[in-house]
Amino acid sequence: VKHLLGIRDLSRQDIQIILDTATQFKEVLQRPIKKVPSLRDVTIVNLFFENSTRTRISFELAEKRLSADSINFTASASSVSKGETLLDTVNNILSMKVDMVVMRHSASGAPHFLAKHIPAAIVNAGDGINEHPTQGLLDAFSMREKLGRLEGLKVAIIGDIMHSRVAMSNIYLLKKMGAEVMVAGPPTLIPKYIQEAFDIRVEYNLKKALQWCDVANVLRIQLERQNQVLFSSLREYSLAYGINKQILDSLDKKIVIMHPGPINRGVELDSDAADSAQSIILNQVENGVAVRMAVLYLLSGGREMTN
Ligand code: CP
Repeated sequence: VKHLLGIRDLSRQDIQIILDTATQFKEVLQRPIKKVPSLRDVTIVNLFFENSTRTRISFELAEKRLSADSINFTASASSVSKGETLLDTVNNILSMKVDMVVMRHSASGAPHFLAKHIPAAIVNAGDGINEHPTQGLLDAFSMREKLGRLEGLKVAIIGDIMHSRVAMSNIYLLKKMGAEVMVAGPPTLIPKYIQEAFDIRVEYNLKKALQWCDVANVLRIQLERQNQVLFSSLREYSLAYGINKQILDSLDKKIVIMHPGPINRGVELDSDAADSAQSIILNQVENGVAVRMAVLYLLSGGREMTN
């Protein structure tokens, strides 16, 4: 595999190899010296055309832990604001001998377009509403770490499915790994085609979804991607689909709560649920570094992992 553009392109075996390699890197990250020489002499540019906290810092840390040389590019502070195209921008950066490109872009398919036109390896760090493959991988890694398996696991993805690249990568990955998947939320935020296209369950009642699942992966309402009013207000959304300790305590089992971040506290998730013992949200963030180390390491050719 030369690029990581989406989970859709990966086989079950590819996913297994990435998750197992991430497990080894997580062990490395527990050591007093966390740095390995695996990507020495590899130069990586982090190209962010959209804002990010977790993904960007996580990739930067993963690159440093692997001893890669990394440079960071923020579109708003670049010559993109003077009208330079995506392809010109990337070709100019590559001419300075850059080997890999990590890219986040608001346009679905932007990394696929680049992959057709440049010689460097590309890692998709989120493209529009299409995919966020390293988020899907770190979510799966975190589920497997917490519950010991993906096969047969019941995962409900709850919230704004329509605008979520995290939902897409989770659905592709979990289906390939044999998990049972449900999407839940208001009908206006669940695309009509999704049930047939992916052979997954759809549930509009939050309590029923939570009662069914082992894991609830809760998504943010992506107001920045909505060009029409899809529900009447955030308060109404919160009343119908907001998850809090009261609803979690009313279930007859303890489910695991996940969220890719950033959380809109008090909308899709209350603090008493987000910060509860059932939440593994910060474990997801921690695991993101090991998972991104695994992706970069494998794409670079998987040379000697440690000294
Ligand atoms: N989960 C995620 O992609 O978060 P950021 O937008 O902060 O990177």
